[in-house]
Amino acid sequence: MIVEQAPAKINLALHVRSRRDDGYHEIETLFAFVQDGDELRLADGPPSLAIEGPFAGVLTGEGDNLVTRAASAYAAAFAKPAGAFTLVKRLPVASGIGGGSADGAAALRALAPRDGVSLDDPRLFAIADSLGSDVPACLLGRSALGRGRGEQLEPVDGLTGMPVLLVNPGVAVSTGPVFAAWDGRDRGPIGEGALLGRALLGRNDLEAPARSIAPAIGEALALLLDGDGTRLVRMSGSGATCFALYDQPEDRAAAARAIRTVRPGWWCLESALA
Ligand code: C5P
Repeated sequence: MIVEQAPAKINLALHVRSRRDDGYHEIETLFAFVQDGDELRLADGPPSLAIEGPFAGVLTGEGDNLVTRAASAYAAAFAKPAGAFTLVKRLPVASGIGGGSADGAAALRALAPRDGVSLDDPRLFAIADSLGSDVPACLLGRSALGRGRGEQLEPVDGLTGMPVLLVNPGVAVSTGPVFAAWDGRDRGPIGEGALLGRALLGRNDLEAPARSIAPAIGEALALLLDGDGTRLVRMSGSGATCFALYDQPEDRAAAARAIRTVRPGWWCLESALA
């Protein structure tokens, strides 16, 4: 059996630059990955997908799952069998941390080495690109600047080991409506330099539209900002997950304790950047 991790992604910054004619938006974003996420297992057998884990019940049918879509596209492109997948769903769904995208990318990362296909094979990238704007970044799986829809990737030096706390207020947010509620104002590009500095000078332009759809995001950000020792507090992707970066794991732990006390029903993940 092959076991592949599907780490959560966060957007350290996400600048929306313009609306395109094809229904997408030109963005500039700083992708980073955390050390925890979903897990995907691949065994020999007829194509199938079993889902377990804390968020298994939230997912809709096997057919729409990005694991199934990635496996079907892979099987068609490489004329190889897919296999029997088990997804351990630990990340909240529709939450701005790329759970589904990470799962689809993990399926490709599981299948390709099994068949001797290089992870650099452009056909894998093409499949990832066809599955969604965040899937190429998840296939790359390391810190990167993303342009275009997010699929034009330039790797950047990461912040490996930096403590991070992820908080989701339990509201599923669809990406399309959040982009559609963007006010159309270009607030400028992401700057140059080292990753943390670029992130600190950046912003998430989807935060205001997402908050108008899911006001609990404002409360999540306020609770994170209340904690000591934060280096950066921001919403990820189109929300509703928000995150904080810390220098000290003790500050992350104290913030997690405080948030779990006030909001015991919220999802809270203590992790570190990959
Ligand atoms: O690419 P993906 O299927 O994940 O995108 C979901 C939706 O989010 C798109 O249909 C589009 O409405 C919006 N989107 C966008 N601009 C992007 C990425 C996504 O408008 N760069």
